[in-house]
Amino acid sequence: KKNIQIAIDGPAGAGKSTIAKIVAEALDFTYIDTGAMYRAVTYKAMQQNIHLDDEAKLAEMLAASTIDLKPSPQGQLVFLDGHNVSADIRSNEVTSSVSQVAAHAKVRELLVAQQQKLAANGGVVMDGRDIATHVLKDAELKIFMSATVEERARRRFIDNQKRGIDSSLEKLQEEIALRDKKDSEREASPLIQAEDAVFLDTTALSIEDAAQAILKLAEEKM
Ligand code: C5P
Repeated sequence: KKNIQIAIDGPAGAGKSTIAKIVAEALDFTYIDTGAMYRAVTYKAMQQNIHLDDEAKLAEMLAASTIDLKPSPQGQLVFLDGHNVSADIRSNEVTSSVSQVAAHAKVRELLVAQQQKLAANGGVVMDGRDIATHVLKDAELKIFMSATVEERARRRFIDNQKRGIDSSLEKLQEEIALRDKKDSEREASPLIQAEDAVFLDTTALSIEDAAQAILKLAEEKM
């Protein structure tokens, strides 16, 4: 068996992280959530009152920060400068600002270098927006995962309900559509399906079935 690289890209709420985690576990691979890294940068910048349009300041801040992803039984934990920020980076404030920070080429350059290092030895499932197109261009398996915006909003809504967070389905749909637009239309590494990626529509697929579909494709590459 080969320690291949599996890249999973797609818009917000397509099921990437849930499915990537299952795939990684089944193959005994490392799961790397690159969105969490952009979220950690955004969280720190907001804490430090750095203007989210100030690319140079953000890059300077990031160069002096450490972001560590650590697997745990409760899922992947995110440490920023040694502190566990796993919950903080999922706040609405961070979620609605992260695309602004992720649009800066200098921020991306620094994070992409870290991501490439983490994946250098293979045996990884990495999810994000530009993994197949920029971070791991030679990944053995590339998946572009999507679902209708209605379905993605519905999943977030149920997710929020489970966590006791009040939300409106309509608002969630608007937010998701706006984040997709920002991520797809930015100049630096926009969200786009790589030519050699397999398209996986999860609208009508269960989590288990989507994971099985990817595992089947992975076995062929190993
Ligand atoms: O995947 P998640 O929703 O946590 O990602 C948060 C945001 O981080 C995305 O909306 C996008 O702006 C940014 N991102 C990115 N490139 C990646 C992963 C995430 O630009 N590889």
